[in-house]
Amino acid sequence: MEINSRKKTLIIGSTGKIGSELVKIFDANKGHQIKLLIRDISKAQPLIKSGHDVIIDDLTNPAVLAAKLKDINQIFLLTSPSQDQVFLQKNVIDAAKRAEINHIVRISALGIHADIETALTKTSLAKWHREIEIYLEDSGIAFTHIRPNFFMQNFLNFKESISNDNEIFSSMTDGKISAIDVKDIAAVSYSILTKTGHTGKAYDITGPESLSFKDMAEQISIAINKKIEHRYVSSEILRGMLLKNNMPPWFIEDKLSFYDGYNNGLGSNVTNTVESITGKKPSRFIEFSNCFISKII
Ligand SMILES: NC(=O)c1ccc[n+]([C@@H]2O[C@H](COP(=O)([O-])OP(=O)(O)OC[C@H]3O[C@@H](n4cnc5c(N)ncnc54)[C@H](OP(=O)(O)O)[C@@H]3O)[C@@H](O)[C@H]2O)c1
Repeated sequence: MEINSRKKTLIIGSTGKIGSELVKIFDANKGHQIKLLIRDISKAQPLIKSGHDVIIDDLTNPAVLAAKLKDINQIFLLTSPSQDQVFLQKNVIDAAKRAEINHIVRISALGIHADIETALTKTSLAKWHREIEIYLEDSGIAFTHIRPNFFMQNFLNFKESISNDNEIFSSMTDGKISAIDVKDIAAVSYSILTKTGHTGKAYDITGPESLSFKDMAEQISIAINKKIEHRYVSSEILRGMLLKNNMPPWFIEDKLSFYDGYNNGLGSNVTNTVESITGKKPSRFIEFSNCFISKII
């Protein structure tokens, strides 16, 4: 297919939190053609049934992937936070180069790029994200880095402790975070993918307010009409609790470092980027809590 006649946006990560919201936005706003890359055929079936154009691929072979990109103009890229993300995402960039893709819009993370080392930049996730960002910048493909803060949806991981013990727990003290709803990350991604003027840019995106875990526990309490407390546990105790839950050691160390960084103000800055890109104010934490009430209790 002629490069100029390619119209489709490939969405990688469409079965995940941000990607599934992005697909909903494209579906609601007709006029842009999308194709979904999914690795698991059983997860692809419902999307194929609902009329979506799907390719099956697991991102392990750039040559195989490149051959599937003939009708693709641009790529939205994210994969799970895991050790293999550098290998997988570099493969996507290599495939995109071979297939002469115009633009890659990639989900990174806030705080991973700084002139001095911080609790956030020293995490494995930050190093992996930055390595991929640099690889993308050096590829010659037009890029946009989207760097979101801590997701509000991370609080869904406390479902059990909220239900059973009326608490959330962490090594957070008074540190505040401008957490963001993944729906707002998807809305920013949609605008970037469908409007011009975003190439070569890196966007730090946050929610509209900076709150401590104690503040957020209070807001969850209001939403579910049940008193929820935030219980502080030291990093040492939290490490032991998470190890018992079979969380990978690198992920535990990253979580503790992120909490350390947030306690030192590294996640508290509020940006107006969501509104300036989408024209809409991002969700407040209370709105997220009200929407997710059925998932929280
Ligand atoms: N959580 C936070 O607070 C936070 C903050 C800032 C940035 N981030 C970044 O956000 C990103 C995660 O976004 P998310 O939470 O929306 O992701 P997610 O829910 O974990 O979903 C990951 C998606 O990637 C797909 N995927 C993974 N490996 C694949 C492979 N080999 N081939 C094809 N597809 C593959 C998954 O497919 P399957 O359904 O098959 O697994 C899924 O669709 C990470 O880069 C993370 O570092 C997170």
